[in-house]
Amino acid sequence: MNAIRNRTATVLVIAAIGLAAGATSFGWTAEKQGAGATIQMGVGHFNRDGKPFHYWDKEKEIPAVCARCHGANGVAEYLREGKNAPAQHVKNAFACTNCHSDMLTYTRHAAAKVTFPSGLSVDTGHNDSNLCMTCHQGRESTASVNKAIEGRAPDEPDPKLNFVHVHYFPAGATMFGTQAKVAYEFPGKTYAGRFEHAPLMNTCTACHEAHSGTLMVARCGACHQGASTQASLANIRMSTRGDFDGNGREEGLGAEIAGLQRDLYAAIQAYAKAVGGAAIAFTPEAFPYWHADTNGNGRIDPDELRPNNRYPAYTPRLVQATYNYTYVLRDPGAAYHNGRYTAQILYDTLESLAQSGKAGVNMAGKARP
Ligand code: HEC
Ligand code: HEC
Ligand code: HEC
Ligand code: HEC
Ligand code: HEC
Repeated sequence: MNAIRNRTATVLVIAAIGLAAGATSFGWTAEKQGAGATIQMGVGHFNRDGKPFHYWDKEKEIPAVCARCHGANGVAEYLREGKNAPAQHVKNAFACTNCHSDMLTYTRHAAAKVTFPSGLSVDTGHNDSNLCMTCHQGRESTASVNKAIEGRAPDEPDPKLNFVHVHYFPAGATMFGTQAKVAYEFPGKTYAGRFEHAPLMNTCTACHEAHSGTLMVARCGACHQGASTQASLANIRMSTRGDFDGNGREEGLGAEIAGLQRDLYAAIQAYAKAVGGAAIAFTPEAFPYWHADTNGNGRIDPDELRPNNRYPAYTPRLVQATYNYTYVLRDPGAAYHNGRYTAQILYDTLESLAQSGKAGVNMAGKARP
């Protein structure tokens, strides 16, 4: 995530400087740029210095399974063939033709539907959102987590079990909830489907500028009183009812979800220590993200940040819990993409840990939406 935070250092405004020579290999033409698009090198889909575009710098090519979302031009091939071949190195982040099928009219590639990692498909009814969700959908699912833990007792540590990582920015999967089943859904529970929001506010480009990814926060205040800055969005509360995180107050949906996330992290740490016999902590810094907290101070220190210092004592329950906690972290807009579904997922994960009797979780006072 550092790549994103550091991006401002490399911002160049295309309209002002014209295009760097290297960019012409993708057929970019600054003159054809309309007023409706925010295109800045270094920002969002053109964050060419970012990690998503440099992970393979020392490799010969980008592997086929990664090329759809990380190649300069992987989407068109995927939509045409249903799969990708290995891709060449990315020089300038995404090509315009990755999303546009015609650079005179700026028509976008036709994307009739989206197939999630679960195998489930949806059609949002909005071609551009289908296109966004072709990449913003994650890489694992309820099914793949179930496969990883199949046939094992819930609280039996097993060194062969590993953290399952959903991957980054799975916004489309969150928006469709149980119609996508990319977060982990517990057996016997029912979950919310698509967050319909309000007419004209239920597409990706209703809230985000397509090129920079910028949230058009000024739009929110038209219907949500007081929601005029990014920070104030967490106070929005409409049709959902209840004190989800059980802190004694019914707050904004974003704030309830932040409360559930805090409780879940604490519960994961308590459970891991009690059942796995070793402490665990998360760091966004490096794979495998969840490490053994060898000195037990609750966080991962520099000397604990080693690829071979993975948490060694996963149980099936801990695989489910770390999966869902990380899912919500990897979709920083989860409360807005589908807050009801997100709260259900977090609540059920906490409840599962509570059922083990080893996580110090108290569900009293918490409500499930
Ligand atoms: C379905 C789309 C999709 C596929 C397939 C995919 N990724 Fe990604 N990946 C993304 C998105 C979206 C991001 C942007 C998130 C960000 O910048 O934090 C990302 C970010 C990354 C990052 C940067 C993470 C960071 O810390 O910023 C790495 C590394 C990465 N992917 C590796 C891979 C590898 C390796 C593969 C193939 C095995 C792969 N990805 C396949 C969508 C995908
Ligand atoms: C990630 C996909 C994606 C990429 C890459 C992309 N675009 Fe777009 N572009 C879109 C979408 C989606 C829209 C429609 C936006 C909307 O409706 O808000 C659009 C709209 C536009 C528009 C406005 C067209 C109109 O009819 O208003 C222009 C101009 C444009 N893009 C230029 C470019 C250029 C130049 C590049 C390359 C530097 C580029 N785009 C790369 C997705 C993309
Ligand atoms: C080809 C795959 C792909 C497609 C299609 C795609 N994205 Fe992305 N998106 C990415 C990757 C990779 C990143 C991370 C780029 C970076 O490093 O900032 C990203 C980043 C973002 C961000 C975060 C930007 C930031 O810097 O914080 C938003 C928001 C976003 N995309 C929304 C959209 C929307 C809306 C659409 C459809 C118009 C879309 N994406 C289409 C792959 C894709
Ligand atoms: C109702 C408005 C809304 C809609 C619709 C929406 N988003 Fe978001 N999105 C948000 C908000 C709010 C955030 C959180 C922004 C923040 O706090 O940084 C966000 C965050 C994101 C991020 C993470 C950006 C970052 O840098 O952390 C991505 C990627 C993203 N959205 C993609 C999408 C995609 C793809 C779609 C369509 C499937 C979509 N969004 C639909 C409001 C929306
Ligand atoms: C056109 C009016 C309109 C706009 C603009 C709008 N919303 Fe909404 N929003 C609604 C309505 C109506 C609901 C109630 C829908 C429901 O709960 O079924 C809602 C519900 C929500 C909820 C769920 C709250 C809850 O308790 O369930 C969130 C979160 C939200 N909006 C965030 C946003 C954000 C962020 C933006 C700006 C990017 C935005 N909205 C823009 C009308 C709007």
